[in-house]
Amino acid sequence: MSEFDFDVIVIGAGPGGYVAAIRAAQLGLKTACVESRETLGGTCLNVGCIPSKALLHGSELFAEAQEGTLAKFGVKTEKVTLDLEAMQGEKATAVKELTGGIAFLFKKNKITWLKGHAGFVDKHTLQIGDQRHTGRNIVIATGSSVTPLPGVDVDNERGVIVDSTGGLALKHVPDRMIVIGGGVIGLELGSVWRRLGAKVTVVEFLDRLLPGLDEDVRKEAGKIFKKQGMELKLGNKVTAVAVEGDTAKVTIEPASGGPAETIEADCVLVAIGRRPNTDGLDLESAGLETNERGQIVPDQQFRTRVDSVWAIGDVIPGPMLAHKAEDEGIAVAENIAGEHGIVNHAIIPNVVYTMPEMAGVGLTEAQARDAGHEIKIGMFPMMANSRAKTNREPDGFVKIIADAKTDRVLGGWCIATLAGTMIAQIAQAMEFGATSEDIAYTCHAHPTHSEAIKEAAMAVRGKPIHV
Ligand code: FAD
Ligand code: NAI
Repeated sequence: MSEFDFDVIVIGAGPGGYVAAIRAAQLGLKTACVESRETLGGTCLNVGCIPSKALLHGSELFAEAQEGTLAKFGVKTEKVTLDLEAMQGEKATAVKELTGGIAFLFKKNKITWLKGHAGFVDKHTLQIGDQRHTGRNIVIATGSSVTPLPGVDVDNERGVIVDSTGGLALKHVPDRMIVIGGGVIGLELGSVWRRLGAKVTVVEFLDRLLPGLDEDVRKEAGKIFKKQGMELKLGNKVTAVAVEGDTAKVTIEPASGGPAETIEADCVLVAIGRRPNTDGLDLESAGLETNERGQIVPDQQFRTRVDSVWAIGDVIPGPMLAHKAEDEGIAVAENIAGEHGIVNHAIIPNVVYTMPEMAGVGLTEAQARDAGHEIKIGMFPMMANSRAKTNREPDGFVKIIADAKTDRVLGGWCIATLAGTMIAQIAQAMEFGATSEDIAYTCHAHPTHSEAIKEAAMAVRGKPIHV
């Protein structure tokens, strides 16, 4: 009999934790996963990636009917009306199916789900409700939560000031919505409610949207969202939000100083970032601490400074993305099993699921220059891509950044309706150490959006064919 109840206990069943648990079980380790939510799947499946994509899809269908895109292709709809309850119902069904799927996979892999909130008793022992469980290894995969804006009280039930969770569950389309934060949540959810009829104003502290993306993408994003009818108040900060009846009064002032203005809305979405979840974990009982950003900092194998405790996902440094958490989940389980799990943190794609989508992988142009690379850039507009043109999807471009001496691809950026799918190709090419020439001489099927990647790669070395 082992001296521990389990070989591995994972805390948190998000994309990091549930994947770590499944991989550990597949590798023959006796595994448990602690989750305090009613359903498995974490932020991503319950209140993140999946419900937001369901609403993005539904609202895009509505906009295609409402704004005449379908009619242009001869699909005439009499009078387009919105049944928001049905759209929310489809979202709920997708969430139910996917979270239920994880419960099925847990059963199939004989993983014990310990229901409740876990806190450390010592480096091998967790307190979960009135029970204690021991693990030879413990993986912290507790994820992240919404960063609050001081002085602004979110009330998701009431629906006047909401965070992303409330913003996914609105029962009515607000006439006027103010989004605080022009990052990925603000633009995805702002797009949903704009398409469904809200007048959306985005207040962003910086002078550009979407920090972290390539500068050309950020510039183009501003133009595209403006063209779609979003009002952008860039370089502005929110100084106060007051609620009077069902109306919110938001006071904003230029970040660089200047006169304040007050704008009114029926719904205010606060989306200024997320912070790691470590509350109630009693990390100090295991001999652990967090850095100044509240993150747990493991080594490259995802082991913390306490050798029985590991950490992955949003609770550790790096982009807060589901696929990064998943890959770390696989790697940590492999490392616990004595294998060599690695994640290449330099090649993690990032996608904003607006219409068009915006995606990137590797270095931005500025990062490549700052890192001392002499670079060559190839750009290709989606307007010159035959499939995008045929589908009437003219917005966007592909940008490939390559090292001038070696021609190795350092980064790739796309704005296109299918950018999220297209970026996988650039990520894979980079993982294989590809040059722009490798991409340019790879045969791409015609007519596809991906041909724009081939042509951007051709543009790095000379001229593409279609511009
Ligand atoms: P989480 O998914 O946050 O899971 C952690 C789990 O741990 C939670 O279920 C929590 O209840 C549980 N937990 C925490 N503490 C304890 C404890 N002490 N005891 C027991 N259980 C505990 N990323 C993408 O890549 N693509 C997207 O399209 C995308 N869309 C998003 C949309 C929204 C609106 C939001 C909010 C996020 C989105 N993200 C997206 C980010 C993505 O959801 C996160 O990066 C991902 O969920 C992180 O996975 P994780 O396993 O680290 O943590
Ligand atoms: P974010 O970090 O993407 O954007 C927050 C924005 O708010 C920034 O532009 C910031 O400058 C701005 N901001 C901060 N304080 C402000 C203030 N007081 N007033 C005005 N603007 C302010 O954070 P967001 O959008 O909340 O998303 C959190 C995380 O969730 C993302 O970083 C991402 O990792 C993840 N996510 C990923 C998605 C995807 O992959 N498609 C979708 C949604 C979320």
